[in-house]
Amino acid sequence: MSVPAIKSVCVVGSGFMGGQIGLQCAVHGYPVWMHDASQAALQRCAEEQASMLDEQIEAGAVSADERQAILDRIRFTTSLSEAAATADLMIEAVKEDLDVKREVFRKLDEHCPPQAILATNSSSIRISRIETATNRPDKVLNVHFVQPVWKHPFVELMRGTATSDETFETVREFASSIGMVPFRVRCESTGFIFNRIWRAVKKEALRVVDLGIATAEDVDRTWMIQMETSMGPCALMDRIGLDVVRDIEQVYYEESGDPTDAPPKVLSDKIEKGELGVKTGKGFYTYPNPAWESPDFLREASP
Ligand SMILES: NC(=O)c1ccc[n+]([C@@H]2O[C@H](COP(=O)([O-])OP(=O)(O)OC[C@H]3O[C@@H](n4cnc5c(N)ncnc54)[C@H](O)[C@@H]3O)[C@@H](O)[C@H]2O)c1
Repeated sequence: MSVPAIKSVCVVGSGFMGGQIGLQCAVHGYPVWMHDASQAALQRCAEEQASMLDEQIEAGAVSADERQAILDRIRFTTSLSEAAATADLMIEAVKEDLDVKREVFRKLDEHCPPQAILATNSSSIRISRIETATNRPDKVLNVHFVQPVWKHPFVELMRGTATSDETFETVREFASSIGMVPFRVRCESTGFIFNRIWRAVKKEALRVVDLGIATAEDVDRTWMIQMETSMGPCALMDRIGLDVVRDIEQVYYEESGDPTDAPPKVLSDKIEKGELGVKTGKGFYTYPNPAWESPDFLREASP
């Protein structure tokens, strides 16, 4: 099937994920509009994109000669209509909240060109719960990135009830063009593929800490030793953001009504204290230089 090419991208929500997604598109040659409701968030996004790009240059993944051209492809605005006006593809990465996302999609439907495709990077909300906020249910889908985007290069693509083959194929080709392996989610699934599996691990890791069975450090240590990985589930939740984890758990809980799915107290306690993980300098660990990065971390256990 020959499908229309994406020529320009708009990212709505320029936080942790939006910034990475926008940068990935710019690195691969796409002009990108970054939108956020907050000017401060856009400012932070520009700074973080420049430093993430430097990290990629240092790692030899991007040529230093390209640096300025890549950054010049990215523009920032607090005006949604300006960001959306010329987009062929819009990728939404705002808060994990159904009402907020539906409102963003309703406005985007108004401001994006009629042929534009609207995608959500939601971690747990199926596009079929958002599609009715638009008049183009054939042109919407889930496109789920994981972080760090440039180091973990895959996306999960999932249709709504009316997503057309053309929309799906266009985005599949686009994803490949920005260096992502595009996995097809073959039927509707809260959490797609990877997040379902990660969710089971995360839910149980939180319960083990919440029930006082083990410390977060020991949860991570046992996981890291047995699975031969460099990072444990609690450290990964710190990187994701404990508020984001709580919002995602809340979506699962609202869907299932199962009390064991409710976000556990250990999360709300930390969030109340402003301990959201890496972004606030404290979560399960303190940053920078969290204990789990120490060479001795796996040689000891909590007292
Ligand atoms: N954090 C992760 O590891 C991760 C991974 C994959 C997917 N996701 C998903 O990506 C989305 C964003 O997560 P994040 O971690 O980047 O969150 P974040 O809090 O870092 O960023 C969200 C941004 O959206 C902005 N925003 C909120 N409401 C808005 C609106 N109505 N209009 C415009 N901007 C608005 C906020 O100002 C903020 O800058 C969520 O749906 C999350 O589930 C997150």
